[in-house]
Amino acid sequence: MNDQYLTVALPKGRLGDEAIGKFKLIGYGDSIIEDSRKLVFIDENKKLRFMLIKPSDVTTYVESGVADIGIIGSDTILEEKKNLYELMPLGFGYCKFAIAGKKGEVIHQREDVLRIATKYPNITKAYFEKKNQPIEVIKLNGSVELAPLVSLSDVIVDIVETGKTLKANGLEILENMTDISARLISNPVSYRFKYQRITELMDKLEKVG
Ligand code: PRP
Repeated sequence: MNDQYLTVALPKGRLGDEAIGKFKLIGYGDSIIEDSRKLVFIDENKKLRFMLIKPSDVTTYVESGVADIGIIGSDTILEEKKNLYELMPLGFGYCKFAIAGKKGEVIHQREDVLRIATKYPNITKAYFEKKNQPIEVIKLNGSVELAPLVSLSDVIVDIVETGKTLKANGLEILENMTDISARLISNPVSYRFKYQRITELMDKLEKVG
């Protein structure tokens, strides 16, 4: 945003809670009231504006320039391939992409099409293309673990953090795909025009690790 404020898009939920903790640690998060229903927090002294956004919408706000910078998992960056700068890893939000399903499910070199439920169609297609395995992607918006249980799909491609959701539903990892963690992203124009403020923030984040 072309003004004197540095506007930060924070994802609501697990990742956002950790991000807010980190901003408070470096003295940037004083204006943020946790467990509030407010969506915008402004720090007049430090000229900071925080916006709390559904994780899947963070990159839209940053790409449009409404937010200068944002925090998001590398899973979303990989899936969307938007016009953004990925500035630095933040040392939290560690999880992984995995193919999961019922024990013993065959996932490669099948003659028939493998049906995969996922929130990440692009990552899924790219991964199986390399393996030469024909697939059908069933795009879901959440609770993907249900799909193989009711035969909507054969397997799922999803993020696994603690593994509790898989276990609770009698599923297991069939193949690990890639590691994921939280990243600081920037709108390219904001990065140019607010370079000093953004690099100052990055230095502070770097110091707390
Ligand atoms: C994510 C992911 C898994 C779960 C993994 O879902 O899609 O369902 O977390 O976490 P775990 O390994 O610690 O159990 P999220 O909580 O974002 O909700 P959703 O299923 O509605 O997308």
